[in-house]
Amino acid sequence: MKIAIASDHGGFELKQRLKELLVESGYELSDFGCHSKESVDYPAYADILCKSIIAGDCERGILICGSGIGMSIAANRYRRIRAALCHDDYTARMCREHNDANVLCLGERVSGSGVAEEIVKRWLTTEFAGGRHQQRIDQFSD
Ligand code: RB5
Repeated sequence: MKIAIASDHGGFELKQRLKELLVESGYELSDFGCHSKESVDYPAYADILCKSIIAGDCERGILICGSGIGMSIAANRYRRIRAALCHDDYTARMCREHNDANVLCLGERVSGSGVAEEIVKRWLTTEFAGGRHQQRIDQFSD
């Protein structure tokens, strides 16, 4: 599975840590920036990542900012993107099983790296349950 990852300056350090985890776990990665802690605007990074998923270049994406909130608001403006801001194992599992979330949003200033790593592992390994949940997410499309 090819994973896209991007952050603003508020999520840069966590992005670097998660990249190591993902590479160690054997995932192919596209890093869309940012590339330092210099201040940038998060919508530009959400935009390039969401477009890579919509185009089919990457299957799933991880967006990180300070709180995770700005990235999740930005990503959910794109049709076919279902972005979930997760804070724990339960939300990571549920956003996959029930919502088929194809983008995970994290807040570096909210979730420590250990918790964030557990969230990413759970989100990557939990399957969508389908059935009645498919019927519900189908209602987003138009
Ligand atoms: C940047 O200071 C911060 O506003 C941003 O990373 C994010 O948390 C916005 O939602």
